[in-house]
Amino acid sequence: MIDIPRAVEAGGAALATAMASLDGPLAYEETAYHLPISFAVTGTPVTDADSARAAYAASGENPLVAWECVRARRANESGPEGPPYTGFIPDAEIRKLGYSLVDGSILGLCLIVGKPDNADVAAALCRELQEKYMLTFLAGPVVPVLQEAHVRVGLEYRLVPLGSTPSHGVHFADILARVAMMFGGVAPGDAARLLAYAAERRARAMVIAFPGLSDEEVACVDALRMLGIPILQTGGYEGGDWTATEGKDAVRAGMDLLGIRVTVTAIPIPMGCSPAFEGKSIRKEEMYVEFGGGRSPAFELLRMKDSSEVEDGRVTVIGPEIEELKEGSAVPLAILVDVAGKNFRKDYEPVLERRIHNFVNYGEGSWHTAQRDLIWVRVSKEAVKNGLRIEHLGKLLAAKFRMDFPDLLDAVQVTLVTDLDEVERLKKEADAVYEERDARIRGMKDEDVDVFYSCTLCQTFAPDHVCVITPERPALCGAISWLDGRIAHEISPAGANQPVKKEGLIDRSGGEFEGVNRFIKKASHGAVDRCRLYAVVEYPMTACGCFEAIALVLPEVNGIMVVNREYKGETPSGMTFSTLAGTIGGGAQTPGFAGISKGYLLSDRFLQAEGGIERLVWLPAALKEELAPRLKAKLAERGLADLFDKIATEHEANTIEELMAYLESVGHPALAMKELF
Ligand code: SF4
Ligand code: NI
Repeated sequence: MIDIPRAVEAGGAALATAMASLDGPLAYEETAYHLPISFAVTGTPVTDADSARAAYAASGENPLVAWECVRARRANESGPEGPPYTGFIPDAEIRKLGYSLVDGSILGLCLIVGKPDNADVAAALCRELQEKYMLTFLAGPVVPVLQEAHVRVGLEYRLVPLGSTPSHGVHFADILARVAMMFGGVAPGDAARLLAYAAERRARAMVIAFPGLSDEEVACVDALRMLGIPILQTGGYEGGDWTATEGKDAVRAGMDLLGIRVTVTAIPIPMGCSPAFEGKSIRKEEMYVEFGGGRSPAFELLRMKDSSEVEDGRVTVIGPEIEELKEGSAVPLAILVDVAGKNFRKDYEPVLERRIHNFVNYGEGSWHTAQRDLIWVRVSKEAVKNGLRIEHLGKLLAAKFRMDFPDLLDAVQVTLVTDLDEVERLKKEADAVYEERDARIRGMKDEDVDVFYSCTLCQTFAPDHVCVITPERPALCGAISWLDGRIAHEISPAGANQPVKKEGLIDRSGGEFEGVNRFIKKASHGAVDRCRLYAVVEYPMTACGCFEAIALVLPEVNGIMVVNREYKGETPSGMTFSTLAGTIGGGAQTPGFAGISKGYLLSDRFLQAEGGIERLVWLPAALKEELAPRLKAKLAERGLADLFDKIATEHEANTIEELMAYLESVGHPALAMKELF
């Protein structure tokens, strides 16, 4: 038995000694928050041993600061550990994580340390965490124990192996520190606000400690209680403030302490089903059969039907079942979901149809990407070995739709077609439906509507952030269109999407309205009083952390560049996406910078205040290629067909000097436009 108070004292002394003898540089990559815990607590950017000691002293010898500095030094000395360990998690991942915490696909965070003496108990515990929508971090001997029990670890399984020692668990704390700074409006150095934020437990976090921690490790884990995190121990410890539980009860006990309630209804199919599996992939070698993805015709369609035509829970398979399909082959597939409900409207069809993607991915052995007739679906060999049939995908969909939309849907039936002729025949019907839906959205202009829609979902983490979504300016996260906002408001009138009256025009080209300003002032709790919807330079929209891309001014070339999240390299602004994102997020309004969706680049309202798309001087090549067909068409429509080739990418320019030279050589119109400032 380890006596916790004694270990905390001895371990704390060891940490203090390690701090005193620390030397050399200290740094993490891909973060704008330096050593995040030290930065959050003291406001000091730690870069070497001396600044580390200064931060430690300024923090009142906070053991979390010492833990971070000592661990960072060891990591800097020995280099990254390599697979399966992740080490420090970059800012970009934390932003995605923030989004999942907001939309409820992750309910809380858990850290597991120590060495479980029973691998099966540990595996069951991890599975329970996955099924209960928790994101779990693993540090130390628990990782090999799980691997021996054939538990798959990785961010995609929501079991993140941070490192080979419990001391790597510090990355769990540096994530919480960054969540507080990025989304919680906690200013670096405002330790009181940080503690208040932690006490509110917006990012709900817990620790499960198995036996086998050293004194120093006990001291580190114990210090997490400062952040309001409950620590559950499963034997081997006595004294102190850790809650004792049996291993098998730890998850429930922890979630009770955090006040997280979930009801998990099992769907009777022979594979696990949970949002925990949403991010996984099924590689070619692991796949039993695939559908679509350009290899065979495949599509999906959700339609409203009269209640007399829908038999709730009915699943029909037309064409060959799994056992008649050749392993490794590509097979045609139609996924037809018919729904009926008194409160359902035809407008909702595309919104619900997009959930097919999420639900199929919830299956441990089924994978889905894209939508409509671009879908690509795989099922794994392992799942088929366990008895998975195509029919079960239908059962999964029918059950999940009923569970997630109980007020909207009274009945759901699913038909899965694998017969080639029948898929091709039905596909013609589907094409007509897609075309009709597109025409409805395409025709919609900001001019034609009286209301825009707000979204404040991200306020959980960025308390003053407000998105305003218009027909021609989709939400910066790319996830929500104006039509979606309207439908979400109808489905849940008191929810995060509210109508914003488009009255009192102040400035047409900038997109400023009295009605919008009034709404934003209220919804941002007074933090923001003006917002120009189509502007970057002055009074741009606030940015939470979920933007697909960032538009920013490059004054040297009188133009504007856009960089998307996937692009990892340097940009002519001298900053990478992740550095930029760290600077503008958190719900602030930052003149010269706007968080945008990729789709907004194709809008006539894009950069309207600054003179339109002619200001666009630089884009990452992959984004340019992704948008090429639609962007070329848009430019041609606006009489700017030759602009496409004048927009530089990293192949033409990586620095502002190279960009300037390139723009001059091609005669880019931005150079001759009105000065931006
Ligand atoms: Fe967050 Fe804005 Fe997307 Fe809503 S629309 S989820 S507030 S980024
Ligand atoms: Ni957001």
